[in-house]
Amino acid sequence: MTILVTGGAGYIGSHTVLELLTSGYDVVVLDNLCNASAESLKRVELLTGKTVTFYKADIRDRAAVDGIFERHRIEAVIHFAGLKAVGESTAKPLDYYSVNVSGSVVLAQAMAAAGVTKLIFSSSATVYGEDAPVPYREDMPRGKTSNPYGTSKAMVEQILTDISFADERWSAVLLRYFNPFGAHLSGQIGEDPQGVPNNLMPFIAQVAVGRRESLSIFGDDYDTKDGTCERDYLHVVDLAKGHVLALKATEQSGTHIYNLGTGKATSVKQVVQAFERVTGVTIPYSIAPRRAGDLPAFWAEASKAFSELGWRAEMGIDDMMRDTWRWQQNNPNGYRG
Ligand code: NAD
Ligand code: UFG
Repeated sequence: MTILVTGGAGYIGSHTVLELLTSGYDVVVLDNLCNASAESLKRVELLTGKTVTFYKADIRDRAAVDGIFERHRIEAVIHFAGLKAVGESTAKPLDYYSVNVSGSVVLAQAMAAAGVTKLIFSSSATVYGEDAPVPYREDMPRGKTSNPYGTSKAMVEQILTDISFADERWSAVLLRYFNPFGAHLSGQIGEDPQGVPNNLMPFIAQVAVGRRESLSIFGDDYDTKDGTCERDYLHVVDLAKGHVLALKATEQSGTHIYNLGTGKATSVKQVVQAFERVTGVTIPYSIAPRRAGDLPAFWAEASKAFSELGWRAEMGIDDMMRDTWRWQQNNPNGYRG
């Protein structure tokens, strides 16, 4: 059975491609490599002993996407391709709506033309919005998003919901990720952000390896256990496995929503302490002002994915620290060596 993975050379995509291959699926990847390296897929091939068919193309290029459906008998699509930097999305909203929203529409049109109607979409906890009570549950309405990135995810969720309502052959699985951390246990694939990392884990890892001097913790005066923000961090390998299990949900038509998180909240200071404990490396940090748009604390109600898909996160924060550190030490400059 062949799965098309858009954005499959990226961080979550490459880990998912690996899990698909080891579960016996054939995989075709489309990625324009704007935030990834083809090296990730070469390493996935080495780790699995299997091959990946790769197309370097933009998700908005309808002819290129059509060509893939003509050449391969695709059973289902896992759609990761998109832009994901929250701050950048505020400065360049059109880029985000073009890639994330128009790109998803082009993909869905090409799927419909090819008669492929099973889609898993990378959504985000951010769609619950600024005012949602915690923990977030899938039956809560989407809320007010605070940036074009979050709005683009909410828009695509709605578009896919409408498509599957209009045509009963369609199945759209909306996976709302919480905060993925970590890297594959081999230390061969991991997160390789371009430029200064926006996210906490790659920033800590780059401080640890000497690429950056010190971590700024954005605010320690929140109403949380130690004053720093709390998030639901999950291991990227657990997250990748969630996609393989979610293929089961595409057997039933309609829209299916799942949180992929652990159900536990960890503060920024606890993450730093865990990294230091697991690696023995001290992370110099200072307290900086709050970052605009950050919510104090959110985490998942994670039981639906377990009861319906049989998925739950198996690894904890210490595993995420150990595996991030292994990846970062093996690849201090990411895929660039
Ligand atoms: P990533 O940037 O590593 O992966 C995205 C991939 O899409 C990259 O390989 C990039 O080159 C590709 N891409 C971007 N624009 C493209 C285009 N126009 N055409 C073809 N390919 C294109 O990011 P990731 O962390 O692996 O995230 C994957 C998906 O999960 C994204 O949709 C992201 O919004 C979503 N998500 C990520 C997080 C997170 O914290 N990492 C949280 C929630 C949701
Ligand atoms: N943080 C710091 N210093 C840094 C980076 C982050 O203190 O240098 C803090 C943030 O203030 C926040 C926490 O670490 O409290 C986590 O921040 P991230 O940027 O790693 O993650 P976010 O929760 O802000 O956002 C992530 C993704 C979004 C996604 C969201 C929910 O980047 O795409 O999770 O899934 F929408």
